[in-house]
Amino acid sequence: MDTRLFAPDPKVLEEISNLPIESASRRAAGFLARLVGNASFLSARVLPLLQGADLNGDWHVACRHDAPDGSYSLQVFVWPPGSRTRIHDHSSWGAYCCAVGTVLEERYERLDDGSVPDHARLRKIWQLAWSRGDGVSTVLPGDGGIHRVGNPGGAPAVSVHLYGPRVGTFDGRDYDISRDYVCDRTEI
Ligand SMILES: [Fe+2]
Repeated sequence: MDTRLFAPDPKVLEEISNLPIESASRRAAGFLARLVGNASFLSARVLPLLQGADLNGDWHVACRHDAPDGSYSLQVFVWPPGSRTRIHDHSSWGAYCCAVGTVLEERYERLDDGSVPDHARLRKIWQLAWSRGDGVSTVLPGDGGIHRVGNPGGAPAVSVHLYGPRVGTFDGRDYDISRDYVCDRTEI
């Protein structure tokens, strides 16, 4: 992925990734909002994804740009109608902005103290539909960002995500709320 399409100064992603978590996710939100408002970026990197892509399958990362040292990852997600993630969290801060269509995010909080292996009890605390212009959703690492993202509508959606450096060795955790289960996830 050509980072020149993302920022006039390619060091901006590096700068964001070096910030403390709270300020990094705020800066990331501003970065993504500007990015999805950039006509060049949309025409070069987003709109082509809606032509010829597998829009009947599962959600997927269509393109990504990762820092060589792992300090950030910029990813463009395609959401075919009806696709959705598991309930999950991330081992890094993250931010995403919808660029095309609408995605639905469900956010959860953890009710247990994490002391029982493979066990997690969750409660849904909100859900929001995000379209372009609705702003940027941010998550903090671990319990600060347990969510599910999907596209319940009839038209495809595209979103752009920025993640910071991982805290720990895993990508995050996946949850099964039907049996109060949680496990580590090595990759998306
Ligand atoms: Fe996520």
